[in-house]
Amino acid sequence: MAAATTSCSSAIYAASETLAKPSSRSFSATSLALQSSSSKLAIKSLRLSGCGSALGARMVAAPAVKAPALLDFDSTVFKKEKINLAGHDEYIVRGGRDLFHLLPDAFKGIKQIGVIGWGSQGPAQAQNLRDSLAEAKSNIVVKIGLRKGSRSFAEARAAGFTEESGTLGDIWETVSGSDLVMLLISDSAQADNYEKIFSHMKPNSILGLSHGFLLGHLQSIGLDFPKNISVIAVCPKGMGPSVRRLYVQGKEINGAGINASFAVHQDVDGRATDVALAWSVALGSPFTFATTLEQEYKSDIFGERGILLGAVHGVVESLFRRYTEMGMDEDLAYKNTVESITGIISRTISTKGMLAVYNALSEDEKRIFEKAYSASYYPCMDILYECYEDVASGSEIRSVVLAGRRFYVREYSFSL
Ligand SMILES: NC(=O)c1ccc[n+]([C@@H]2O[C@H](COP(=O)([O-])OP(=O)(O)OC[C@H]3O[C@@H](n4cnc5c(N)ncnc54)[C@H](OP(=O)(O)O)[C@@H]3O)[C@@H](O)[C@H]2O)c1
Repeated sequence: MAAATTSCSSAIYAASETLAKPSSRSFSATSLALQSSSSKLAIKSLRLSGCGSALGARMVAAPAVKAPALLDFDSTVFKKEKINLAGHDEYIVRGGRDLFHLLPDAFKGIKQIGVIGWGSQGPAQAQNLRDSLAEAKSNIVVKIGLRKGSRSFAEARAAGFTEESGTLGDIWETVSGSDLVMLLISDSAQADNYEKIFSHMKPNSILGLSHGFLLGHLQSIGLDFPKNISVIAVCPKGMGPSVRRLYVQGKEINGAGINASFAVHQDVDGRATDVALAWSVALGSPFTFATTLEQEYKSDIFGERGILLGAVHGVVESLFRRYTEMGMDEDLAYKNTVESITGIISRTISTKGMLAVYNALSEDEKRIFEKAYSASYYPCMDILYECYEDVASGSEIRSVVLAGRRFYVREYSFSL
C-alpha cells in the first residue's frame, strides 16, 4: 500500500482552494434530507465555496465568549479543589483508586444499583462499579436490567452478571428493586419510556443519567422529573469501551481513566452530590467537574453535531472532492483525506495546540493558511450558532426522538 503523501501544508492548501473555488459537483440534497443537524453542518460547510476571497488574507480575531458561571457544590466525603483552566476557576474532585474506600460511605443507604441497558456505557459502567465496590469490600449489588428478549442477556452473562446471583434481570424488576437506577438505555428509548420508568422507581430513590437528553425532552414537552426522587448525572467524556479500557489500565498506570462531568438536578434528601461523586470515582474518572443537566445536553449535543459529526464529515468531504477535482486518483485522495484528519495535523493540535500548526508552516504556507482560516471562520461560526439554536430550542432533541421511532417502526415491520 502506497504511503499517503499528505503533509500539514498540502491539506491546508487543498482546504483553502476548496473554499476559494466553487465545487463543480452538485450535492444530492434528497439523500441527506432525512439526516439531522450533524449532516446539516457538513452540507453547509461545503456551501462555503466561493466566500474565501471576500475576507482576504487577514487573520480574524476570535470574538469574546462569556465564561460560564462557577458551579459550586459541597461534599461531606470527597475533597473539592478549585482549579484554573484557561483563566476560569472551576471546582473539581480528583479521582483515584486510593479513594475507593470512601465509596461505602458516599453510597450510604444504597443496597442495589441497577444498571439499565447494555449498549456502550452499560457494560463499562457496570463492570467498573462492580470492580471498585469489590475493592472497597462493599456489599452493594450491581444488577443489570434488560428488556424482555434482549440479545444483551448473553453478553452480560459473559461479563459475569447472572440471574442466579441476582445481578441480572428484567428491566422493570431491576428499576423497582434499586436504590440508584443508572438509566443507560438509548436516549430515544428514555424519551419513549420515561413514564413507565418513573412509575417503577421507589420513592426517595435516585435516578442516574449519563446525559441530559431526558431533561431536554421533558422540557420540550413542558414536563419535569417526579418530585419524589433525586436526579443526578455522571457523564463520562468518552465512549463506553474506553471508559472500561482506561479503568483497567488504571490498575497499573496511575491516573489512567476518562474524565466525567456530574450534575445534581434534584436532591430529595441531601445524598445526591456524594452519590454522584462516588459514581464518578467508582468509574475511574481522574477528574470530575460540575455541570448542570441543561448545560450537559446543550454542550454535548452541540459539540457532537457541530464537531464530531458535522465538521469532521465536512472536512473529509471537501478534501476528497478537492483532491479528485485536482486529478488525484480516488485511492490516493482517500488516503490523503484520512491522513489529514488522523495524521500530523490532529497529532499536532492534540499535543501542542492549534497555533503550533500555524507556527510550523513556511511564510508562503502561512499566507495560504490565513486565507483558508479567515474565509471559513465567520461562515463556520454562523453554522455552529445555527446548530446550537437547533439544540437549545429542542428541535434537535425532537428529531432524535422521531428518528428513534422510525427505527422501531422499521424493526417492527421487518419482523412481521
Ligand atoms: N455512547 C457513548 O459513548 C456515550 C457517552 C456518554 C454518555 N452516553 C449516554 O449514555 C446513555 C446510554 O447510551 P449508550 O450509547 O451506552 O447506549 P445505546 O447504544 O444508545 O443504547 C443501547 C441500550 O439501550 C437499550 N434499549 C434500546 N431501546 C430500548 C427500549 N425501547 N427499551 C429498553 N431498552 C432499550 C438496548 O437494549 P438491548 O440491549 O436489548 O438492545 C441497549 O441495551 C445515553 O444517555 C447516552 O447519551 C453515551
